[in-house]
Amino acid sequence: METSQPTPLAASRPASPLSGIIDIPGDKSISHRALMFAALAVGQSRITGLLEGEDVLRTAAAMRALGAEISRDGADWLVAGRGIGGLTAPDDVLDMGNSGTAARLLAGILATHDLYAVMTGDASLRRRPMRRVIDPLVETGAVFTARTGGRLPLCVQGARDALPITYRLPVASAQVKSAILLAGLNARGVTQVEEPEPTRDHSENMLRHFGAQVSVTPAGHGNIIRLTGQPELRAADVMVPGDPSSAAFPLVAALLVEGSEITLRNIGLNPLRTGLLDCLREMGARLEIVNAHSAGDEPVGDILVRHSTLKGIDVPAGVAPRMIDEYPILAVACAAAHGTSRLRGLAELRVKESDRLTGTAAMLRAGGVRVEIEADDLIIHGGSAPGGGLVETQMDHRLAMSALILGQMTDDTMRIDDARFIDTSFPGFVALMRGLGALIS
Ligand code: S3P
Repeated sequence: METSQPTPLAASRPASPLSGIIDIPGDKSISHRALMFAALAVGQSRITGLLEGEDVLRTAAAMRALGAEISRDGADWLVAGRGIGGLTAPDDVLDMGNSGTAARLLAGILATHDLYAVMTGDASLRRRPMRRVIDPLVETGAVFTARTGGRLPLCVQGARDALPITYRLPVASAQVKSAILLAGLNARGVTQVEEPEPTRDHSENMLRHFGAQVSVTPAGHGNIIRLTGQPELRAADVMVPGDPSSAAFPLVAALLVEGSEITLRNIGLNPLRTGLLDCLREMGARLEIVNAHSAGDEPVGDILVRHSTLKGIDVPAGVAPRMIDEYPILAVACAAAHGTSRLRGLAELRVKESDRLTGTAAMLRAGGVRVEIEADDLIIHGGSAPGGGLVETQMDHRLAMSALILGQMTDDTMRIDDARFIDTSFPGFVALMRGLGALIS
């Protein structure tokens, strides 16, 4: 998706409180992984609740181009895998669209398959750093060529007889960890990754689910993860829960709009993804988890949200890996809260779909909120906001949705320059919000 024909969109205060019981599209991280692991397993896997957003459809297309058979069966997806080492060379460039997760995880798979492939992406993805996966992955014996700064397009000649990697992540990144583990699947011996802080562990959970041997040992503030190479991955069925990162948008909207009460059904509650819920509770949010249970290897539950009076918060940097995608929408909640909030240690936000630290500050300023950036901290002076601004979303779905939720609390309409990228992670977002009573046009 490129930006040649922007489609403007406006948001305003809702006429009435938000109410309803809603389902949220499937978890993006788990959906990418389900398609990739199933493509590397022997036999046919069934995936229920797969996110049918642009990013995940790119992964499906790439795995198909590499030889997996992928089809829809009603609402489910079926993947007939090729077995580890069984993927075949694609006959064209793999276009990963807007998706950093797809590109980085796939780089791991390609590194240890003896084939030649080229990956590219849209203008946003072509700006994002790939050096963080290339540096460890060359140690398998793979050869990578990329543009200056390790940018896409990227050419890979995968290793013929791949070596296992031992690597300490310089930044806490689930994408880099997962890329190394995926490479390790087709390397002889034990692949080992050390993460400085725990990051989302969907890859570890799903690897076990498909029959791989993975151990996790606490080390310092983080973990050491060890994977035994060349396991026989067996086809397995995967239930994808609702994405907590997508749920965050209607959830915060319900907190902000007076009189609101909504229930979000079947949301993923992996503790490495629930940093936002902890922060919002500390701010005074009335959130209740009901019907908590586990779906496959992941905890899920329903979240009951009621309008709440929020107070500002000081969020330490250590929380970032547990809510890395939720800062723009947390910042919107902080804009509505009484007092000043400080969100610390947000350097990683600068290399997301856009420079999200600068973009979040600009989005709030467009709504008339007082904001400062000090080094890598975001400072937000909360209260009421006049609104009335136009937000440049910079090909970033989460900035687009956050700006529209900000419009739920401002006096005047908030507008965004381009709504199309919302479909990368949350198809149906506008219709769902309208169904709850929001006035988004
Ligand atoms: C993801 C990891 C995070 C997150 C991204 C999805 C994943 O990225 O921001 O949206 O699925 O592993 P980093 O690993 O770069 O922090």
